[in-house]
Amino acid sequence: MRFLILFILLALVLCEGTEPLPGTTSEPAIAVDNDRLLANTVLLAAHGDRTPDQDELDKFPSKEHYNDEIYFPYGKKALTNKGKQRAYLVGQYLRHRYNNTILSPMYLPDETYIQTTNYARTQMTVLTALAALFEPTPAQKWNPNLNWQPVPYDTPAYEDDDFLYYYQCQRYLRLREKVYVSPEFEEQMKPYEGLYKYLNKMFPASNITTSEDVFYLDNLVQALENVGVPPPQWIEC
Ligand SMILES: *[C@@H]1O[C@H](CO)[C@@H](O)[C@H](O)[C@H]1NC(C)=O
Ligand SMILES: *[C@@H]1O[C@H](CO)[C@@H](O)[C@H](O)[C@H]1NC(C)=O
Repeated sequence: MRFLILFILLALVLCEGTEPLPGTTSEPAIAVDNDRLLANTVLLAAHGDRTPDQDELDKFPSKEHYNDEIYFPYGKKALTNKGKQRAYLVGQYLRHRYNNTILSPMYLPDETYIQTTNYARTQMTVLTALAALFEPTPAQKWNPNLNWQPVPYDTPAYEDDDFLYYYQCQRYLRLREKVYVSPEFEEQMKPYEGLYKYLNKMFPASNITTSEDVFYLDNLVQALENVGVPPPQWIEC
């Protein structure tokens, strides 16, 4: 499942006793057994299949990428139809799996809070998943020909968005720099020095020096494959 880029982390917060937590009502809580109550559920999901970012294309310049028509009609940095289909399946899965247990049978604004990063592709992913997760019940149906209702989400400002810690959390960035120059890390990376050399030879205009650079290269190869550009033969194992 090399190309599976959706992942889900489901964390159930259980609290002892039957009293609701301060600031919550007892209504959405679900009795798990006699003396434990489900107070909160958190679900994290990544965006679906996408086209490449300009940053990635700039980092690894190559002739094939210059033809912008291959990104039509999505544009760059965008969710593809496959990505939408995957997000929709995730919404359907969650609805079937948790209908009437963790999830109420209908969208209730006091029960559900939705947050996404301020990227078109993540917002489109969440909108598509929500279309499957919260199909309108008869009371919510507003257009007889459309099995969809609007469900809102929040997008925090860049500097307040904890999902983007790897760009804006200064402490994380400092610690990461420290790890990169630590003897332990350098020892672990030694076996790959030949690989970096080889990759730099294949992408002469790039400068691949860290495992993170290789991660970005892998992202780019996958994103290009999403728009029909097969990986170069030397990359296939
Ligand atoms: C979820 O539960 C509601 C109420 O019991 C039911 O009407 C609906 O068909 C269920 N939806 C799914 C997808 O199972
Ligand atoms: C490549 O990147 C490294 C680490 O960021 C930097 O020290 C080096 O100067 C760069 N080399 C070139 C040719 O850009």
